[in-house]
Amino acid sequence: MEGSSLYAEHLKEQQRRADRALELGGYDSLLIASGSLRYHFLDDNPFAFKPSPLFRSWLPQVTSSDCWIAYRPGQAPTLIYHQPADYWHQTPQDPQGEWTDHFQVVVSRRREDAAKLLSDNLGRCAILGPEIAAVEGLHPDNPEAVLSVLHYHRAKKTGFELEQMRGANRLAARAHRAAEAAFRAGESEWGIHLRYMAAAGQGETELPYGNIIALNEHAAVLHYQVQDRAVPPAHRSFLIDAGADQLGYAADITRSYASEDGPYAELISAVEEVELALVAMATADQDYAQIHLAAHQLLAEKLRELEIIQIDAEEAVASGVSRTFFPHGVGHLIGLQVHDVGGFQGDESGKQPIAKPDGHPYLRLTRRLQPDYVVTIEPGVYFIPMLLDELRAGPHAGAVNWERVESLLPYGGVRIEDDVRVTDAAPENLSRNAFAEVV
Ligand code: GLY
Ligand code: MN
Ligand code: MN
Repeated sequence: MEGSSLYAEHLKEQQRRADRALELGGYDSLLIASGSLRYHFLDDNPFAFKPSPLFRSWLPQVTSSDCWIAYRPGQAPTLIYHQPADYWHQTPQDPQGEWTDHFQVVVSRRREDAAKLLSDNLGRCAILGPEIAAVEGLHPDNPEAVLSVLHYHRAKKTGFELEQMRGANRLAARAHRAAEAAFRAGESEWGIHLRYMAAAGQGETELPYGNIIALNEHAAVLHYQVQDRAVPPAHRSFLIDAGADQLGYAADITRSYASEDGPYAELISAVEEVELALVAMATADQDYAQIHLAAHQLLAEKLRELEIIQIDAEEAVASGVSRTFFPHGVGHLIGLQVHDVGGFQGDESGKQPIAKPDGHPYLRLTRRLQPDYVVTIEPGVYFIPMLLDELRAGPHAGAVNWERVESLLPYGGVRIEDDVRVTDAAPENLSRNAFAEVV
């Protein structure tokens, strides 16, 4: 299918979902705000603007603030398009592109005018958006019954969304290659970060999340947010968790690299083997929480093989020892948000949440997978001093080969993460396909 008809089909699907949400919520119509600028305290500089993901799900091509989508089932949607009279800033361009065929576009010059510009036949209207978007006559109320339906169905990606996510993965894969080269050339975290952004063609506010660019011990900090300007004395290990954006859709990819052969390089190979086995489990009707539990079992087997622990894998999982080395969830839904919404919903009502397995508070997804869900698979093994100290002080200290652990502390850890589309057959690995394409 051509790109243009993919968008038309995508929009129809958003309308079908909205019809259902309005019916279940007892509303006649829907208003969705793109959002408004937020300012730093006592300052006239705004934070970078990101449109609400609810707005983007209908109109990913429109990225400006103070726009509103109005929709009543059976009618073409309206867009209140905010194009202010402003000579201080670049104002949004005149509406253009295929999407204008599907919306009745009404230009607003002042954000306060949005309510006046809407036709008055909206009936009982659910208003979705952040509080800051409120203007006179339009106050977001975000009814839970409506949001739950939209959030639940967002897990399943349309053909248009899959195309954006494949593209985001290609951008990220190209940038990951540039980052690896910068690591091998001995650059600082900051230098690698700059190379990544240049290769992706995206700046910090465009990327879907802050780059995690971690050399050596820093790889043990799960969401390491610093980019050290100093070149470290040695480049032992490199963990990079960095994505890219295409029309609001995210890629989220992690790779780990060793500068030489040895136990850390062996650990990378072991985690990669586990990651591929877990990716293969991402099939239709699979309970995602079981993938997480399988990750613990498989990683514990590798920890044993590599003589990092000295108890059986089963015992390491049952006693919680595996959680010291793998203390996060195995992945999450991904789409318009890196950690996409609806990960625990048992159904569209939102009234049947699926609990996380006991002892696994950081898992973000417990649903059964269905075709066209996109999820990440991201096992890891880390040497985190805070968690190791706790283990050493507790009843399971004898489970660990501490000499081995001490020797691996300077490498921080390993994580390998791909974005994976569930299908009726084998999963589509968006990230690995992207790396293969951008050689
Ligand atoms: N980049 C954050 C995560 O992998 O979930
Ligand atoms: Mn992730
Ligand atoms: Mn990640």
